[in-house]
Amino acid sequence: MVQIVLFLLLLNTSACCGFGFRGCSQNYPATNIMWCFNQNIANLSDVISMIPDNVTTINLSKNKIRVIPPGSFSQVLGLKNLDLSQNQLDSLKGGEFRGLVVLDLLNLTSNNISSIHSSVFEGLTRLRTLLLPFNRLATISPGIFNYLSAIHEVDLSLNMLKTFSCVESGGSSTLKRLHLFANYIQRVNVSCFPALEYIRLSNNSKLELQADVFASNPRLKFLLLQRVKVEALVGLSMDTKRNLSWVAFSLFLDKSPLTVCRVIEGMDQLNRIEVDLKGSRLPQHNSSLLNCSAPAVVIIMDANFGNVAHLSLGKGNTSGLYLINCGLKQISYTTFDGFQGLKTLQLNQNKIVVQQDAFKGLTDLTSLSFDRSKIRDIDPNWFVPLKKLTRLSLIKNEVLDLAPKVFSALTQLEQLYLQFNLLKYITKKPFSKLRKLTKLNLSLNIIDFIEEGSFQDLTSLRYLDLSGNHIKRLTPSILSGLVNLRTFVLYNNRLHFRSYESPFINLTSLQYLEMNYQGPGGRGIGDIGPHFFQGQRQLICVGIGHSILLNIHPDAFSPLVNLKQLYIAGVIMKTTNLSAVFSPLKRLKKLTLYRADLDTLPANLLPPDNALEVLKVQSNHLHTVDKMTLDALPRLRTLDITENPLTCTCENAWFKSWAIHNAHTQVPYLYNLQCDNDRRAAYLWQFNDKACSYEEVSLTLFITCSVMDVLFVCLCLAWHTQGPAIRYLLLILKAKLRGRRGAAGTKFQYDAFVSYSSKDEAWVMGQLVPSLERPAAGAQRLRLCLHHRDFRPGTAVLENIEAAIYSARHTICVVTRHFLRSEWCSVEFQLASLRLLCDGSDVLLLVFLEEIPQHCLSPYTRLRKIVRKKTYLLWPEKPEEQDAFWVRLRDALKDEEEEEEEGGRGGEAELARLIG
Ligand SMILES: *[C@@H]1O[C@H](CO)[C@@H](O)[C@H](O)[C@H]1NC(C)=O
Ligand SMILES: *[C@@H]1O[C@H](CO)[C@@H](O)[C@H](O)[C@H]1NC(C)=O
Ligand SMILES: *[C@@H]1O[C@H](CO)[C@@H](O)[C@H](O)[C@H]1NC(C)=O
Ligand SMILES: *[C@@H]1O[C@H](CO)[C@@H](O)[C@H](O)[C@H]1NC(C)=O
Ligand SMILES: *[C@@H]1O[C@H](CO)[C@@H](O)[C@H](O)[C@H]1NC(C)=O
Ligand SMILES: *[C@@H]1O[C@H](CO)[C@@H](O)[C@H](O)[C@H]1NC(C)=O
Ligand SMILES: *[C@@H]1O[C@H](CO)[C@@H](O)[C@H](O)[C@H]1NC(C)=O
Repeated sequence: MVQIVLFLLLLNTSACCGFGFRGCSQNYPATNIMWCFNQNIANLSDVISMIPDNVTTINLSKNKIRVIPPGSFSQVLGLKNLDLSQNQLDSLKGGEFRGLVVLDLLNLTSNNISSIHSSVFEGLTRLRTLLLPFNRLATISPGIFNYLSAIHEVDLSLNMLKTFSCVESGGSSTLKRLHLFANYIQRVNVSCFPALEYIRLSNNSKLELQADVFASNPRLKFLLLQRVKVEALVGLSMDTKRNLSWVAFSLFLDKSPLTVCRVIEGMDQLNRIEVDLKGSRLPQHNSSLLNCSAPAVVIIMDANFGNVAHLSLGKGNTSGLYLINCGLKQISYTTFDGFQGLKTLQLNQNKIVVQQDAFKGLTDLTSLSFDRSKIRDIDPNWFVPLKKLTRLSLIKNEVLDLAPKVFSALTQLEQLYLQFNLLKYITKKPFSKLRKLTKLNLSLNIIDFIEEGSFQDLTSLRYLDLSGNHIKRLTPSILSGLVNLRTFVLYNNRLHFRSYESPFINLTSLQYLEMNYQGPGGRGIGDIGPHFFQGQRQLICVGIGHSILLNIHPDAFSPLVNLKQLYIAGVIMKTTNLSAVFSPLKRLKKLTLYRADLDTLPANLLPPDNALEVLKVQSNHLHTVDKMTLDALPRLRTLDITENPLTCTCENAWFKSWAIHNAHTQVPYLYNLQCDNDRRAAYLWQFNDKACSYEEVSLTLFITCSVMDVLFVCLCLAWHTQGPAIRYLLLILKAKLRGRRGAAGTKFQYDAFVSYSSKDEAWVMGQLVPSLERPAAGAQRLRLCLHHRDFRPGTAVLENIEAAIYSARHTICVVTRHFLRSEWCSVEFQLASLRLLCDGSDVLLLVFLEEIPQHCLSPYTRLRKIVRKKTYLLWPEKPEEQDAFWVRLRDALKDEEEEEEEGGRGGEAELARLIG
């Protein structure tokens, strides 16, 4: 008896230590991190109760948490990093973080917190960083900092504070950095923060500072006071000024009696100033902008300088000069007179005409950038004096063409950034002589042709980014010279290969190859033939996919014996023999087959002695998980199978219990996995598998078979005598089934994703959004996804777009000439079309803002077809017709649900017709 009880106890403990979490996934290989972001988590207790007690980081960002019950984290007392940003917390009442004595970082950014009880941070004796920006705090509770005995940095930016006084909020002898950006602060008192080194008070327009406000902060070095009355800075005491090494402020020269030199007077230790000139012009007469000893780094922003013959800035030895958005129109060699020591020069966001000799005196320059400056032509003569230049950046200009050997004077150049230009062809060896270049970025141009030998001299190049272009072909001759290339990014092009090609054969150092998203406007990747990766033994990581057509030859991967990571996504792999293709990948550690249209996984996915640790098969059509498949992956630590239509049947019973009980392989978000078939048990983990033992299965099988037999005989008989009636029955059944499928699939976050060119933003924001999101009474509110508003920051643009298209019921394309010209819109259109191909749902809805002649549409086969069929909406010029337009648009957005009803009705109608 005792033994049995003991055994049961043992069973129970082993159950508690298996993994699979609710709303979270454990990081691998650093298992001390839990990722729980963006999972719709509202009940924190549910989630935390499953988390292993030794995790040190939990990321709960972007959920729906409104309250944290006291003691919520008592099970994870070793927590060092806690991210609760982007939730809906509105107050902290005390006890929320009880016991977290080793917590180091607490991120509460972007909640709705308006009150914090004094005792909330009690016990957080090791907390170093507290982030509270983007909340609604109007006051700070008394004594709140007294508990934070190790605090180092506090961010209270973007709240509604009117005053800040450490006398009330509690002092700290350890606080070094304090951010109070963008509040409504009029008065500050930081006298009880003796260790303070950095304070950001920018954008508090009513701020007043007494001369001695920082008298008790002898270590204050960084003082940021942009968009604050500049007198506040000028009035500070000499002692305070003398220590400062970095200041930022705003100054409108045209109206103010002050000059930059006057403001920084007395700041002897200064090595960096950042001045926002609020659109000022250059001072008239001979009073120059900075005729005093200027600090090492000078950043001037937002001025209106025009043609600058002579900046006459520095007497000092400025080494970094940044003139950002300064309205510069023309620069010549006199402009930078007196700047011989300059090492870094940034002229971003100006519309400059650069004279041939502009950089004549700047022989020490190592870094030069003019991003977003509307430059069309790059003149080789600019670079002749720049013998020491190692970094050149020309991002987001309008460069159409590169002259032959344009950079060849830059023999020391190591990094060259040319992304976001209008380059169409790479010809005539523009990169010749760049033998030291290690990094070249040509992404987001419109390159569709690269001449052979263009990269011949780039023998040191380690990183080449050609993503976001229209490249169709790459051959060994085009890529010759790149013998040291390690990382090659080919994301979002139109590459198409034939089975005999081996484009990368001479890239003998290649380790990382990224070639996702081939297709928009092209034919898809095509054939990855048997020689495609020939000679690529050193490849570690390959990403490939998001393409209409991709065929992988069974021998294609055979050279990749050292491959550790393989990412395949957005392609149809159903017909590929996965076992054969993957059989050479003995060292593979991480395999992703995301949205690959798979119905099953083969039993021998990888070779017998494989090293696979992470397998991700999200968004496929897997109904069951085969035990043999997993048995053949002995080192598997993570199996991500989310977004698959798993069935809760006896076939999956073993998987359910394995996922819950095994202590080796984690199934991320296990407790969120839903049953696709069963209405009673919504989740896989709830599925009752007691009836799945062997005898019962065979008994059930026997009974089912007998019943089926009898039914079949009856059906045959019935068909003979009652043919039509049975057909109606089938029709209704079909319609009903269709209806159910629709219901199961309606988990869309948005009603529509709107694809439009930024040039048409006025219409979208002024007409479309108000009419659909905030309609007149009676009409239903629709949820729209707009890229500038709803995209997740930090994710790559393309992934954002794709996620948007799949999380919205429809994609509205706002078609204008701008739309047709915009690269992103084209990608959005193509991806929405791809969805038609992959899941058969046509989500596109076209709204034409202007009539566009057929011939302009010719590159867009599908668009043209849609226009021919006249299944699009045209925005009427006349205001009185616009109401009708909105009605039609709303109808179109609703149609899916109704179609299903119609399906049902259609069936019944047909029934009636047949009977009648
Ligand atoms: C946490 O504990 C489990 C077992 O209790 C152990 O396997 C794992 O290695 C520990 N993780 C860390 C990061 O210490
Ligand atoms: C969260 O879930 C637990 C049980 O898992 C329940 O006791 C508690 O009431 C829930 N809390 C909220 C706020 O719904
Ligand atoms: C948590 O995830 C978000 C992305 O959703 C990221 O911005 C944030 O930095 C992460 N926090 C930590 C501590 O890793
Ligand atoms: C805190 O959260 C914000 C918003 O999610 C995120 O952008 C930021 O990176 C986080 N900070 C840290 C240090 O994790
Ligand atoms: C934020 O809190 C205020 C009250 O302080 C409330 O009116 C508002 O609805 C809340 N916003 C959200 C998004 O929860
Ligand atoms: C800050 O508060 C302390 C204590 O009340 C006071 O002595 C000091 O003068 C105040 N400083 C400023 C600048 O108001
Ligand atoms: C590729 O390398 C081989 C052997 O080093 C060489 O013979 C061949 O010319 C190279 N091809 C190109 C196009 O550079």
